[in-house]
Amino acid sequence: MTQTMIPSAPKRVFIKTYGCQMNVYDSDRMADALAPHGYTPTQELAEADLVLLNTCHIREKASEKVFSELGRLRELQDEKRAAGSDMMIGVAGCVAQAEGEEIARRAPVVDLVFGPQAYHRLPEMLSQVESRKHLHPSLKRAVIDTDFPEEDKFAHLPAAKKEVMVARGLTAFLTVQEGCDKFCSFCVVPYTRGAEVSRPVSQVLDEARRLVDAGVKEITLLGQNVNAYHGTDAAGRDVGLGALVYLLAEISGLERLRYTTSHPRDMDDALINAHRDLPLLMPYLHLPVQSGSDRILKAMNRKHTRAEYLALIERIKTARPDMAMSGDFIVGFPGETDQDFEDTLDIIRQTNYASAYSFKYSTRPGTPGANLGDQIAEEVKTERLHRLQELVNQQTTDFHASMIGKTLPVLIERVGRQAGQIGGRSPYLQAVHLDGSPDLIGNIHQVEIIGTMTNSLVGRLAQS
Ligand code: SAH
Ligand code: SF4
Ligand code: F3S
Repeated sequence: MTQTMIPSAPKRVFIKTYGCQMNVYDSDRMADALAPHGYTPTQELAEADLVLLNTCHIREKASEKVFSELGRLRELQDEKRAAGSDMMIGVAGCVAQAEGEEIARRAPVVDLVFGPQAYHRLPEMLSQVESRKHLHPSLKRAVIDTDFPEEDKFAHLPAAKKEVMVARGLTAFLTVQEGCDKFCSFCVVPYTRGAEVSRPVSQVLDEARRLVDAGVKEITLLGQNVNAYHGTDAAGRDVGLGALVYLLAEISGLERLRYTTSHPRDMDDALINAHRDLPLLMPYLHLPVQSGSDRILKAMNRKHTRAEYLALIERIKTARPDMAMSGDFIVGFPGETDQDFEDTLDIIRQTNYASAYSFKYSTRPGTPGANLGDQIAEEVKTERLHRLQELVNQQTTDFHASMIGKTLPVLIERVGRQAGQIGGRSPYLQAVHLDGSPDLIGNIHQVEIIGTMTNSLVGRLAQS
């Protein structure tokens, strides 16, 4: 089905990615789906024959960005047409899934709109756009595909060529799970990504082996609820994320493994034990709690309490004492009082995060939160966000400073900005700069941390 287009003259696709890591992964999959049909990716918008916006619907600001971008693209398209060339414009991702036809109505410049479950059908959709090209503009309609199909998208997406994978670098994302059944009352993801689906174990292992074969040293497993993963193995058995991680750890050449985003309710013993047993599983865990107030957690439908979250972190740190935490927070959820907010600051103090993302609550149409009374005033949200970020930034600064004098394994990924420098990542995803030969790129080296900068660490190669 996906091979209906005949390879033709080389064309360029420009893909702009918004939102989470899953969209980053998906953008590469779209590029892979288009490659057999003559499209190569470009970073230059002006030379694109096809522009794809891979969009995010999570907050109002994120989804509004799409329409301002489409306005700019319309001007570019007018210029191109005046110069005798053309370009197709597609909207993919979560805004496409949520708003579908509305996008085509609001922005007639759009040729196709398609949701995350339709990426394997992209070449086919482009053929449809091409076949409508000769129609009078008044008759042209965008091609829209926002179905949740029965077939397994991943099984229909082609693998990238090895040289393309090599060029993508030493670290890679690998989506193992998509969608969400949790329905937190503020969140659009269950609607934009659909129900939770896990990829079969063999598919995940095959993709991981291909990545490692192409030189990847570090894989981050992705899912909206990655630790709710429950794939099926060849014998038909159910395999959770904990067990999957042990299987991946056997791949020779794979040196680091991460996973994100986890939900506190799905951190089971198997996964916690994997942190105890497997050195390749990095001691850095993104485990959002959103709020430190039991009342708000309940209203958010998070299905756990503050005490349960704190106890869980204790268990994780017992299994892996060098574990550092990262989190997400929403301030100004409807009904959040000063005391609720103080409870959030308090859980941040108790947990001591290495980093955290924080957001003002954004009312999303169609979610239960949108119908709650007692929405919080914008100034209050702003003030709370500011206070929360001050606290978290201090914790991040302290965390970086606590690295000074330690020797950390650093995956050297690139030459540095200054001559003679190289750079890489610590186990805690901190950028590390040091003097060293580019020959070290591609491997993990022990680096003594001697200083910090705002968002990175400075080190020197440890004597071995
Ligand atoms: N599945 C993950 C979160 C995915 S969305 C989890 O359960 O933790 C990423 C982050 O965006 C969330 O953790 C939350 O902090 C934020 N977010 C989601 N919906 C939001 C909204 N309506 N307003 C503000 N922030 C939101
Ligand atoms: Fe959204 Fe909650 Fe699902 Fe996370 S668990 S994706 S916040 S509904
Ligand atoms: Fe945004 Fe969709 Fe990811 S809404 S955060 S791109 S799952």
